[in-house]
Order: sequence, then structure tokens, then C-alpha cells
Amino acid sequence: MDQLMQKLSFEMRPNSSLQLFAIFAFATCGGYSGQLRVSVDCMEKASSNLSIGIDFAYPFRLYQVSFEAPMCEGMIRERVFLIGDYSSSAEFFVTIAVFAFLYSLMATIVYIFFKNKYHENNQAPLIDFVVTVVFSFMWLVSSSAWAKALSDVKLATDPDEVQLLIPACKDQTNRCGSVHGSHWSGLNTSVAFGFLNFVLWAGNIWFVFKETGWHKGSSRLAGGGSEKQAGTFNQQPYNQGSFDQTGSHNIQGDLSQPSEYSQVGGPTSYSNQM
Ligand SMILES: *[C@@H]1O[C@H](CO)[C@@H](O)[C@H](O)[C@H]1NC(C)=O
Repeated sequence: MDQLMQKLSFEMRPNSSLQLFAIFAFATCGGYSGQLRVSVDCMEKASSNLSIGIDFAYPFRLYQVSFEAPMCEGMIRERVFLIGDYSSSAEFFVTIAVFAFLYSLMATIVYIFFKNKYHENNQAPLIDFVVTVVFSFMWLVSSSAWAKALSDVKLATDPDEVQLLIPACKDQTNRCGSVHGSHWSGLNTSVAFGFLNFVLWAGNIWFVFKETGWHKGSSRLAGGGSEKQAGTFNQQPYNQGSFDQTGSHNIQGDLSQPSEYSQVGGPTSYSNQM
């Protein structure tokens, strides 16, 4: 059992915690509900309402959010609607987070339990690589869009702004005020998790890239130009070496290396003497 766990954790992709952070991202955004509260203090005290609560929630179609405000004329009340629709950015963000969660869950399962199949041909790692790149980009785009939408939502639900929508408040003789605004920590967290996910997925690109074998494959196919390109990506010298040894001319290269190193070693020993 212990051995199995060791094997699993060894074979798991470095960022199998991706699922957890994706969950945080869509749960903090999709599960949000907030409330602000304003007061309308009419000249005619009887018709005042000093505590009007306004509830709103994901997906922030604020134009559908309404509340009853006193008209300050007798006991008549009227329905007032908030302004704005931020559902597209919010839903885009949550959708990306949900699909990223599902994909990384699936990828981890495939990677752990079907590791041999995964490496059987190059197709699975290739698809994995492309999808990971796309998701990284989508995390960046959706997090940025959601961050912008959130700042607009904050403005549109600011009690000081909402007061301006109440007709009775335009009359100077009535006094309107804000009781409290909504709490934003949950939504601020969701934006932070969005960008954190972008960083994690972008970092994961490297690990998935290693599985594609592109950096090995292109040097094996050995077009002169593509070899140079592959070299810029390749940060695993021992892999390159294992292929280079198959070419006879490269053996010379291998032999020349130790002498280079000994030359490099020379000056150090001189400096040690000084
Ligand atoms: C004030 O408005 C709230 C809705 O936010 C309502 O439930 C309450 O009955 C109102 N109070 C008065 C005195 O009209």
C-alpha cells in the first residue's frame, strides 16, 4: 500500500493540484451572493424606509435586480432596478474554471492509470500539450475579463451610486444615505485564484511539453534549421546526449568536451594559487 502511494505520487504530474485551485476559482465566483443597504429618509417621516436591502448574486445580471423604494408621497413605493449586465464575463470565467477542472482531473487520471497508453504514441501528449496551452491562455483572458467586470460590479452596486437611481433621492428635501455596501473578499479571491491558475497552467506547459518528445523528436529528424530551434527549447542536455551518441561524428564532440572542461578548470586553479 505504501509502495503504491509512493508510486502514484511519483508518477503524478507536478501540478495535479490544479483541480483544487480551479475549484476555488469557480466556487468563489459562482457561489457569490452579496447585499447592500441604503436608507431613504423622507421629509414625511412616515413614508421613510431607513433600511432597504438589495440582494444580488452571480451571474451579476444587475438590470434584473430590483428593490422597492419609497416615493416619499404617502405610502406609495416604486420598483427601482440596478443597471448593468456583467454575466458574460462572470459566466465565461466560471465556464473556463469548470472545464479546466474537468480536463485536469481527466488528464491526471489518464496519466496515472493509463501511463503506458499515454506514452504509446505521441498523440496523447501532443493533445495534452495543445489543450494545456489553450487553457493557460483562456485563464489569462477570462481572469482579466472577470477582473474588469468585478470592478464595474463594485461601482454599480456601490450604495452611493444606487442612491442616485432612486427618484425620491433627487428631491433635495429627502435625505438618502448608504447603510452598508457589499463584502467583496470572496470575489477578490476569485480573481486572485484566476491569475494563480494562469500561472500554474502556464508552468505546467513545460511539464507537458517534455512528454511530447518534440525536443527529442526534432533533433532526431535533424533538419539543420529545426535542430537549432529545438536547441533553444532544450534544457535537458542528457536527453540530447543520448541521441547524439548514435551519430558517429558526435562521438568526437563528446570526446572534445572533457578537454574543454579541463581548460576551464585551468584558470580556476591558478586563481587558487593567488
Ligand atoms: C423597507 O424595505 C424593505 C425591503 O428592503 C422592506 O422589507 C420593508 O418592509 C420596508 N420597510 C418599510 C417601513 O416600508
